[in-house]
Amino acid sequence: MSSKKLRACISGVHGYVPDYILTNSELETLVDTSDEWIMTRTGIKERRILKGEMQGTSVLGVKCVKGLLEKTNTDPKDIDLIICATVTPDMLFPSTSNLIADKVGATNSYGFDISAACSGFIYALSTGSQFIEAGTHKKVIVVGADKMSSIIDYTDRKNCVLFGDGGGAVLLEPSKDETGIQDYLLRSDGSGGDMLCLKAGGSLRPASIETIKNKEHYIYQEGSSVFKFAVTNMADISEEIMNKNNLNSDDVAYLVPHQANKRIIDATAKRMGVGPEKVLLNIEKYGNTTAGTIPLCLWDYEKKFKKGDNLILAAFGGGFTWGSLYLKWSYNN
Ligand code: ACO
Repeated sequence: MSSKKLRACISGVHGYVPDYILTNSELETLVDTSDEWIMTRTGIKERRILKGEMQGTSVLGVKCVKGLLEKTNTDPKDIDLIICATVTPDMLFPSTSNLIADKVGATNSYGFDISAACSGFIYALSTGSQFIEAGTHKKVIVVGADKMSSIIDYTDRKNCVLFGDGGGAVLLEPSKDETGIQDYLLRSDGSGGDMLCLKAGGSLRPASIETIKNKEHYIYQEGSSVFKFAVTNMADISEEIMNKNNLNSDDVAYLVPHQANKRIIDATAKRMGVGPEKVLLNIEKYGNTTAGTIPLCLWDYEKKFKKGDNLILAAFGGGFTWGSLYLKWSYNN
């Protein structure tokens, strides 16, 4: 019997963003802000918004997964498991992954959601890879998607400029070679939970006239405090995974960072010693799509990747949660 470790590899990626573009100039008409402030403080120029009645995050997820199945020529009935990372599920239950599975015809699959805010995709990817590595699952889909516009107060200038809607999905399969997911580090610190949260709508503060009046169903964030934690922890954990795997900056082909703020990304890249040519960015056109940013970035830059490229994924988000993941890209385009 071979003792060779089974690895999970990404064998396809697909993303989706809605058509509607919310620009900085449109935001200037809604709140007291400016393109100049938003660009210099965050690096965001525009973001996408999912418009229309009865359009939840599963709409984004379904678009991503249908595109992924088509692109990888995969029969939906062959999917064993769908994991969806999101903090904006269609409903508290059933899980959004179940709704996606139903709409794409993944009738032999089961699924569950992962709530880890902006680190959700890294949490879900590392979770999904375990099922492949265990040898019990052959095809696992990991979705990261958020309809952030559903929890944004468009009169709150501190938050409404930051977020957008979108998502991406990857197919995980057993790797045929040494490529695939090599290592990951995940962390959380619940003592930071109050600094970035949705105060009401859960069992602690169920929806009431009062919670609505207090606008507690919109995202709450102490921006500058969160910023300090994000800069330190995202940089630390990216450096840590490099050290743990004996990687130097020349070994890293690309950093795929969560896209919350260009300044956080720059600090992470600086700590890793990687130049701007290795830092994948799409914050300018999508803003922060929470669990969507990293798979969207993989999708946007897929054509650049070559088999064997070392990618470092890194994120920090509400919870607090943070993490990094090291993978060797598994295919050429
Ligand atoms: N336009 C103009 N002025 C603004 C705006 C705006 N959109 N928003 C805030 N300001 C003002 C503030 O009112 C403040 O004015 P004051 O000094 O008169 O009170 C001033 O700008 C500075 O505000 P700060 O909040 O200190 O600005 P900062 O430079 O910290 O940038 C930001 C704010 C962009 C939110 C930053 O703190 C940040 O990126 N934080 C981290 C976000 C993050 O990574 N979150 C985790 C992931 S999200 C998730 O998990 C769901």
